[in-house]
Amino acid sequence: MSIMVAFLCLSLSSLLALVTAGGVKNCHPKCRCEVESYGLFDSFSITKVDCSGLGPDATPIPIPLDTSHLDLSHNSISYITDSMLSGPGYTTLVSLDLSKNLISRVSSKAFNKLRYLETLDLSQNVLENLSDGCFSGLPLTEVDLSDNKFREFDLNVFMTRGQETPISVDLSNNLLSTISSNHHLHAPYIKSLLLAGNQLRTVPRLAGIPLQYLSLDGNLIHSIDEGAFEELTDLVYLSLSGLPELPVIHPNSFRGLRNLQVLDLSNNVHLKALSPDVFNGLSALQELNLSKSVATPLPVTMFNHMPSIKSATLGPNMHCWKTHKQGQFHRQIGQAKANDILTCDVPGIIL
Ligand SMILES: *[C@@H]1O[C@H](CO)[C@@H](O)[C@H](O)[C@H]1NC(C)=O
Ligand SMILES: *[C@@H]1O[C@H](CO)[C@@H](O)[C@H](O)[C@H]1NC(C)=O
Repeated sequence: MSIMVAFLCLSLSSLLALVTAGGVKNCHPKCRCEVESYGLFDSFSITKVDCSGLGPDATPIPIPLDTSHLDLSHNSISYITDSMLSGPGYTTLVSLDLSKNLISRVSSKAFNKLRYLETLDLSQNVLENLSDGCFSGLPLTEVDLSDNKFREFDLNVFMTRGQETPISVDLSNNLLSTISSNHHLHAPYIKSLLLAGNQLRTVPRLAGIPLQYLSLDGNLIHSIDEGAFEELTDLVYLSLSGLPELPVIHPNSFRGLRNLQVLDLSNNVHLKALSPDVFNGLSALQELNLSKSVATPLPVTMFNHMPSIKSATLGPNMHCWKTHKQGQFHRQIGQAKANDILTCDVPGIIL
């Protein structure tokens, strides 16, 4: 009985605190709550709740109804249970930050109630796996899984029913040696995929995924083969920078990348030579970066494969760009289009 009374007093006092804290109804005394109003007559509002740095025993944390942004970072959380994110207030979340915890397990139904969740940050945890379907039904547009411990990853976890908006996925700085997408009927609608700083030894096959932006920087890729990116016809930006094990890119490696506009091949210090045929098929390429890559002189003819090129960085102080007229002191190095001339800012450049 006395325990009951004590409990009631406790809840009553914390209730008073909730009402006053930050002027937001039901704000947990240890969280910081903020309402931003906008629109004519402040008719719309966004409730942001910051419960970062509260410690491991804080969860589940009650949050105000209608919370749209919740920060639960820096809390030493290790396990996301089914009930942790299911209280009132959670169903309206648009953005959830669970970064910088110690999360190693996410229960398969942990995110089930977050029917409006667009942005999820799980970076800087110790995740090794996620259960199939843990994101199913969520309208996610951005998921950050960087700096975890994934060794393999199946991108089909991002396949959700009636997916209308594309999603950006960050899987940088994990331990990935395998990325798969064993699609049955459809592939996940991923627009941007960051795989930098992993242990991939070959270019992953991502057939069917309508990727526009792909980074494979800093992986252990040892060779890039003919047609390696063939299925990625929507790709606009490709970054293959800082691949320490890469001595060779085979001719026609970029075949099929007819929409590619930017290609970053910088910092590939072991890349021995590049044949012009490597660049076959890059008809939309506008920007090429070869800074700190390829010690040997590059053949002028490589630009013939890039009719749309506007700018090329060939070294730390060597930049070339397309002009309509040849500058007085610039040396013509290649004919990009009938009236367009590629000029470089280094006199006496040997190409
Ligand atoms: C996920 O990883 C943990 C720890 O390595 C392991 O115990 C568990 O069985 C794995 N779960 C799945 C679904 O693979
Ligand atoms: C080319 O790559 C280098 C090294 O990664 C970078 O510092 C530079 O800014 C890049 N240049 C352009 C034009 O993107």
